[in-house]
Amino acid sequence: LTRPLIAPSILSADFARMGEEVIAATEAGADWLHLDVMDGHFVPNMTFGPGMVAAIRKHTAIPLDVHLMIDPTDPFIEAFAKAGADHIHVHVEGNPHVHRSLQTIRALGKKAGIAICPATPTDMLQYVMDLVDIILVMTVNPGFGGQKFLESQVPKIRMLREMADMTGRDIRIGVDGGIDAHTAPVAMAAGADMLVAGTAVYGQKDYAAAIAGLRHAPGS
Ligand code: DX5
Ligand code: ZN
Repeated sequence: LTRPLIAPSILSADFARMGEEVIAATEAGADWLHLDVMDGHFVPNMTFGPGMVAAIRKHTAIPLDVHLMIDPTDPFIEAFAKAGADHIHVHVEGNPHVHRSLQTIRALGKKAGIAICPATPTDMLQYVMDLVDIILVMTVNPGFGGQKFLESQVPKIRMLREMADMTGRDIRIGVDGGIDAHTAPVAMAAGADMLVAGTAVYGQKDYAAAIAGLRHAPGS
């Protein structure tokens, strides 16, 4: 298996020391930095908006992987692109025009990601695959860090890997939620090649050891 990309989620970082936390993850070997945007409406929690993304942008050169858990999504896509997001993930749920959202992200010159919640079937992605660069499989219900990895999503990762490969294009499959040294190899064996990790990086003392541990987890 190829080594996965590791994207620490700043949701589990110390928000009062965000600049230092971003630099620490970068120096510890993070491939991407995952930024969870929550509005208290699409998910039962709130985090931050484009202002935080712009502030973080000044402290790292690695790709900013912005996960939008907001409703509506479209009116904010441009602001996140301008703030310095490299990848923008929109959820397939609750957005009747997700095709347009993906087109908008692409038109802004950013990588388009689609996130899919645990209860949502893979069919929902069937007719937008040509617009997708990254698929983010939620292995917890979105809203909070530190939840347990949902094993029920493993067949879904496998199915989406097949769908992605069938396009003949290089589509990344990321997993988001409950990733640790035990679940990382499970997700990777099913076809994931990008791992989001909040608690498993920012909840640890040694970020470099945590990132290396996920990348080289036994069985992977
Ligand atoms: C949950 C977020 C995740 C979260 C993962 O809504 O999308 O990115 O930070 O946290 P852990 O890795 O602790 O499950
Ligand atoms: Zn996320």
